[in-house]
Amino acid sequence: MAELIVALDVQTRAEAEAKVKLLGDSVGFYKIGLELFTAEGPDVVKAVKDFGKKVFLDLKFHDIPRTVERAVLSGGKLGVDLMTIHSVGGKAMIKAAADAAATFGATGPKILAVTVLTSLDQSDLADVGIAGRTPADQVLAMAQFATANGAHGLVCSPKEVGTLSRLLPAGTLFITPGVRPAGAAVGDQKRVATPSDAVRDGATHLVVGRPILAAEDPVAAAHAIRVEMDAVK
Ligand code: C5P
Repeated sequence: MAELIVALDVQTRAEAEAKVKLLGDSVGFYKIGLELFTAEGPDVVKAVKDFGKKVFLDLKFHDIPRTVERAVLSGGKLGVDLMTIHSVGGKAMIKAAADAAATFGATGPKILAVTVLTSLDQSDLADVGIAGRTPADQVLAMAQFATANGAHGLVCSPKEVGTLSRLLPAGTLFITPGVRPAGAAVGDQKRVATPSDAVRDGATHLVVGRPILAAEDPVAAAHAIRVEMDAVK
């Protein structure tokens, strides 16, 4: 069954704790990204774990293999459940991340690879030397590369998840942001899908921020998304 992850896109630990408290049992998984982690550090991860929640630490590591290996070990010690790396960090870096995660056994962190940032288009790819491949081709090539080298899953847009889930090995995790329930404000997201479409297309985890956190009744919003996800056969 697909999991719902709420993006804790806030600036302070106090705000993060207030959101987690408010959502209570309606949400069991939170994403902590660069903004909150840079402001509050590992204490905010510990605080969310202390509520008994799972944590997706989205810091998108891209460094030499030894540094990434040690960062994953640090995340594992914090009890983090999902962590991100950039697939363009190369084979040895991806393997180092996966090997470090494996030292924590079955309950250790799972490594998710970012393929191509959704903010990049064809001309951005050409600027950094990736010419002659569309973003979609590059996404698929990097997804196959990352999973072949030990990544447990991929962060992908709702528009990519259908193709990737058909072409990649069973058991691969697909973490999909850009999810909007029908009728919800799209905000700055350009290519969105409903929770049921994303799950039907193969998403194993949905990352949702504003449709829950900015809702008048966040508990009801989270519950409605959960119901929609669970209704997918
Ligand atoms: O508020 P919203 O539901 O748009 O939040 C989505 C979350 O997923 C944000 O934390 C955003 O940074 C993240 N994300 C995204 N698109 C990507 C990668 C990550 O929206 N391609």
